[in-house]
Amino acid sequence: MKCMNLMLSLCLLGGLILGGSSFACPGVVAAEQGDASSDEEAANSASRVLSLEKRFLHLPVKTGAGETWLRLDVDGKPVCEFIIELATDPNDVSFYALLEIASWQGQSGTLVAETYPAGSKGLDAVTQSNEFPDVDTAYQERYRPQFHFSPRRGWLNDPNGLVYYNGEYHLFYQHNPCGVRWNNMTWGHAVSTDLLHWQELPDALIPDRLGTIFSGSAVVDWKNTSGTQAGTEPPLVALYTYEGPRMRYGEPTSQGMAFSNDRGRTWTKYEKNPIIPHIIGGNRDPKVFWYEPTGKWIMTLYMDGEDYALFESGDLKDWKKTCDIKNLGCSECPDMFELSVDGNEQEKKWVFWGGNGKYLLGSFDGHTFVKESEPLAMKWGGNDYAAQTYSDTPGRRIQFSWMKDGSYPDMPFNQQFTVPRELTLKRTPDGVRLCVWPVKELESLRGEPVSVASVALNGEAGCELPNTELLDMELELQPGDATQIKLALHGREIILLPKENAFVVDDVRAPLAVDGETITLRIVLDRMSMEVFANGGLSQIAKCFVPGAGANFSHMKITSDGTNACIKQMTAWPLRSVWNVKQ
Ligand code: FRU
Repeated sequence: MKCMNLMLSLCLLGGLILGGSSFACPGVVAAEQGDASSDEEAANSASRVLSLEKRFLHLPVKTGAGETWLRLDVDGKPVCEFIIELATDPNDVSFYALLEIASWQGQSGTLVAETYPAGSKGLDAVTQSNEFPDVDTAYQERYRPQFHFSPRRGWLNDPNGLVYYNGEYHLFYQHNPCGVRWNNMTWGHAVSTDLLHWQELPDALIPDRLGTIFSGSAVVDWKNTSGTQAGTEPPLVALYTYEGPRMRYGEPTSQGMAFSNDRGRTWTKYEKNPIIPHIIGGNRDPKVFWYEPTGKWIMTLYMDGEDYALFESGDLKDWKKTCDIKNLGCSECPDMFELSVDGNEQEKKWVFWGGNGKYLLGSFDGHTFVKESEPLAMKWGGNDYAAQTYSDTPGRRIQFSWMKDGSYPDMPFNQQFTVPRELTLKRTPDGVRLCVWPVKELESLRGEPVSVASVALNGEAGCELPNTELLDMELELQPGDATQIKLALHGREIILLPKENAFVVDDVRAPLAVDGETITLRIVLDRMSMEVFANGGLSQIAKCFVPGAGANFSHMKITSDGTNACIKQMTAWPLRSVWNVKQ
């Protein structure tokens, strides 16, 4: 999936200050020119001159059309470029991508499509508008997750820059605004006051002369240590990775910094980027936090292989390496935070987290992380990768994860995040372990529940459910002597194997502790995914699916091979969609 078409050198992208625009680099002055016209210059190349008048260009995308490099020249100078599956036939378009052109209003631009099949006419279908292309259809699509975050259009992977400030949760994400496959890495941006209802804002960070914008984090610079504050409010500062060669220039990877003085609406890239030049391999994904005892910022950074490192800084710009963290058993997307054990403020541990959800418990003295455990896991395979936790949510550690893979047939968007979830540390018979649980805000979507208690499971039994595809269920089961209990609901199947201390969702198997004769499960079902949390969140599986036709939403069938298994208690709530409001 992650491959990019490296082609002949094009001009470098324009400037560094990319305020609040989708691929809109700062404009350069251009002479006024005539009206739109289509002009196929040569085989494999076409161009069209436009007088730029509105906020957006709508670019016709045909999924599967093949990659075209599209460049916008203003006054003869390239101001942005990207890879797009540009439709070749104006009458056969999957969806329209946005190119924000507000910075060049009143000027003349030329769209140049390279590596574009001879005779293609897609540029004829480019239009200008002050509106999004999908105002009537956005979020109403057949395969749109109903309470999980998914991008309005285009591709999404890792959550980035998760930061809470002034009543708003910011959700940045790895984004391809121009297609439904991984490419053109950009930070998409959405905000929410409750972690559930999101408003998408223009893309925050777009590729520039140093490369595309890979994953990273954001913080509130409360003390203006970076010196970037402009008004009375503290700046938001983003630390991210540049992937140079993806855009055919720059170092393999380096780390960059950008700041915002208007609550994340527009971003200015630091003029002396990169702040950390390339070190080794594909080192990337800076996650930064403030460490009060030393008054320093700490950065966790993925290095290479299964190795990570910590860096410290007083100003978010100059960074010094302080320690290595090796052999985590995974790569990419580190995170690090301190949590109390069972809520006891006197007993705290540090968690060091990697891309596939492996984590270490340990101690941290402000410079060095010392591990106290081998790599542990709380989530098991499935569609769950590159999770990140929020900065600046005191008292709560809230995490989003990318529901990697999954399928959204013929949709103008691709991929979704897990539900926002809270992390805690709990003492268990095996030692201290990380627990994951949906944030309490999810309960605000619940409607009238259906409950049952004491249902014997001899052979086969059934349970009425609220008749809806969006469901939140809490279940307490007594397995008795059963070796297998199968829950069939919404066309999916969860298999509990109490004697093997395991449960299985589709092809994924995870540990399941039978605690005092009881199995507890929380099952969160959206249109396109299921998340199952076992034993209070000590073990969890997230799975995507494509809903089949004719699933029975109002009934759960339970089969058991034991003689004395039973449902002790089951409560199931219908959930409301977050997309009932047009945006
Ligand atoms: C993880 C990852 C990161 C990288 C980003 C690029 O999924 O590979 O390491 O920064 O995705 O999109």
